[in-house]
Amino acid sequence: MNTVWARLVGEAADARQRAYAPYSGFAVGAALLAADGSVFTGANVENASYGLTLCAERVALAGAVAAGKREFAALAVVAEGSTVPCGACLQSLAEFAPSLPVILAEPGGPPRALELAHLLPKPFTSREKLP
Ligand code: THU
Repeated sequence: MNTVWARLVGEAADARQRAYAPYSGFAVGAALLAADGSVFTGANVENASYGLTLCAERVALAGAVAAGKREFAALAVVAEGSTVPCGACLQSLAEFAPSLPVILAEPGGPPRALELAHLLPKPFTSREKLP
């Protein structure tokens, strides 16, 4: 694990501390490394309606894209059980970085790196993007 990825895992662990998860009790933190070296973090944000819950990964992605970033180098996710991002998050990430390295870790545990294309080999695509 290189030092940049190790730092990213640390940022995801910090973000996890800010999760708002009073309904599931399952806190998730994410840190998305943009190609220019900037890092965008996210935590899950739950809601009384349940269905409005935002996943940590998409919070990080939305923050990055809203800040003008569209190229990404790695994503770190920290949660109990080193859980793999859900399908909705994988699809959202694949929009920008189909072969993104995804680093998964438990709080304080050893990270493991996978590739987004391995986790979601056939993302949904429709037609060409408009020019
Ligand atoms: N969650 C994430 O933040 N990321 C995922 O990829 C899957 C699940 C959150 C949503 C909810 O707040 C909690 O984990 C339990 O599902």
